[in-house]
Amino acid sequence: MKILIAEDDYVSRLLVKKAIKNIGHDVVEAENGKIAWERFLETLPDMVISDWMMPEMDGIELCRRIRASDKKTYSYIILLTAKDKMTDLVEVFEAGADDYIIKPFKPDELRSRIKTGERIVTLESQHHHMQEKLIEKNNSLDQALAELKISQSQILQSEKMASIGQLAAGVAHEINNPIGFVGSNLDALNDYIQDVDALLEQYLDLTTSLHEKGFDSLNEEHKKKVKAILEKQREVEIDYIREDIPELIKDCKEGTSRVGKIVGDLKSFAHPGNDRQTLVDINKGLESTLNVVHNELKYKTTVIKELGDIPMVEGFPQKLNQVFMNILVNAGQAIEEKGEIRIQTRAEGKNVVILISDTGCGIAPENLPKIFDPFFTTKEIGKGTGLGMNIAYNIIEEHKGKITIDSAVGKGTTFTVVLPGK
Ligand SMILES: Nc1ncnc2c1ncn2[C@@H]1O[C@H](COP(=O)(O)OP(=O)(O)OP(=O)(O)O)[C@@H](O)[C@H]1O
Ligand SMILES: [Mg+2]
Repeated sequence: MKILIAEDDYVSRLLVKKAIKNIGHDVVEAENGKIAWERFLETLPDMVISDWMMPEMDGIELCRRIRASDKKTYSYIILLTAKDKMTDLVEVFEAGADDYIIKPFKPDELRSRIKTGERIVTLESQHHHMQEKLIEKNNSLDQALAELKISQSQILQSEKMASIGQLAAGVAHEINNPIGFVGSNLDALNDYIQDVDALLEQYLDLTTSLHEKGFDSLNEEHKKKVKAILEKQREVEIDYIREDIPELIKDCKEGTSRVGKIVGDLKSFAHPGNDRQTLVDINKGLESTLNVVHNELKYKTTVIKELGDIPMVEGFPQKLNQVFMNILVNAGQAIEEKGEIRIQTRAEGKNVVILISDTGCGIAPENLPKIFDPFFTTKEIGKGTGLGMNIAYNIIEEHKGKITIDSAVGKGTTFTVVLPGK
C-alpha cells in the first residue's frame, strides 16, 4: 500500500514514519499541504496521513481536494490534530476524512488505525473492481442490444425488398400474358383494318360517282339511300377516321411494347427467390434498375449512361440492383430542381468499376465518415431511415468489393463501386 504523509513538523513526520516502518508500506512525504496535494496527484496513494495545521494549505483543504479529485480508487484519510473539540471533529469528517488521531499519539494507536484503513481500502478496491466489471458487462450488453437492433432492422429491410421483388415479379408475370395477346390482337386488327379500309374506299368511290354522275338514273328510294350515306360520311368525318385509325393502332402497339419492356425490367430487377450466386451482367442490372426508378428521376434529372465493355461479376443480381437503386434514389433526392446523374461502367484490370455521380447538394465533410452508418440520415422524419447506404455497404462487402464516396458541397457526389470481375 502507498501512504502519503503530510506533516510540516520534521519530528512529527519522523514519528509517523517510524510508527509505520514495520508494516511494509511505501511512504511518500510532503512538508506542507501544497506539496502534499502535488504528491497526491503524482503518486495517487491508497492512504493519506495528514496534519491539520500546515503552512500553504491545511489538512482540511487537502481533504476536500482529495475527495473532489477524480481518482478512481478510494484513498483513506487520517487527520492528525491537536484539537479535540466536538465542533472541530465535525469539520474533519465534513471535509471527507475517514478518521482522526489526537496528538500526541502512541505508535500502537496509529498502527491500529492504519490497519482499519487498510481493511477499508481493500474493501473499497474490491467494490470498485466489481463495479468496473459490472459497467463493462453493461456496456457490452448495450452494444449487443444496439447490434441486435441494427441487424433486426436490416433483416426487416431485406425481407421487405425480397417480398417487394417477389410481388413485382408476380405482377410482371401476370401482366405479361394479357399484354402479349393485346399485342398480337393489335397486329391482326391492323391487317383486318387495312382490308376493311380498301373495301370502304370502293364503297366511297361508288357513292361519290353515283351522286355526281348517275344520280338522275336512280329511283327515289335509291336516291334517298345515297343521300343518307353521303350525309353520314360528312357527319362522322370519314376521311379523318381513315387517317387516324392506323395512327391509333401504331400508338397502341408502341404502348404494349413499352409495357412489355417495363415488365421485363421488373422481372430482371426483382429476380425472385434468387439466393444462389450467379454471373451478373452489371450493365443490364443498371439498365433495369434505372427503368424501375425512372419515375422518381424523370422530372428533375437528365440521366447520362456511359456503360463500357465489362466482365461479368459473380454474385446476387437482386442485391446488387438494390445497391444501385439506393444510390440512384439518393442521387435523385440530392438534386433540388434540375440536375444530372451520370452512370459510368468500365473495366480496370480484372475489376468492374461503377461510378454514379450527381450534381446534387453534396455531403458536408463532417458527415462523410457517417454515411455508411446505420440510421444516419439528414432527411426529415418519415423521408429517410438512414439504412440505404448501410445496406449498400454490406452488400458490396458481401461481394468482396469496395464502395467509396467523393463529394463537394454544392457541386455533387460520386459513389464508386468496385467489384471483382470474373
Ligand atoms: N448522393 C447524395 N448526395 C447528398 N447526400 C447524400 C447522397 N447519398 C447519401 N447522402 C447522405 O447520406 C445520408 C444517408 O443515406 P442513406 O441512403 O443511408 O439514408 P437516407 O437516404 O437518409 O434514408 P433511406 O433509408 O430512406 O435511404 C442521407 O441522409 C444523406 O444525407
Ligand atoms: Mg437513401
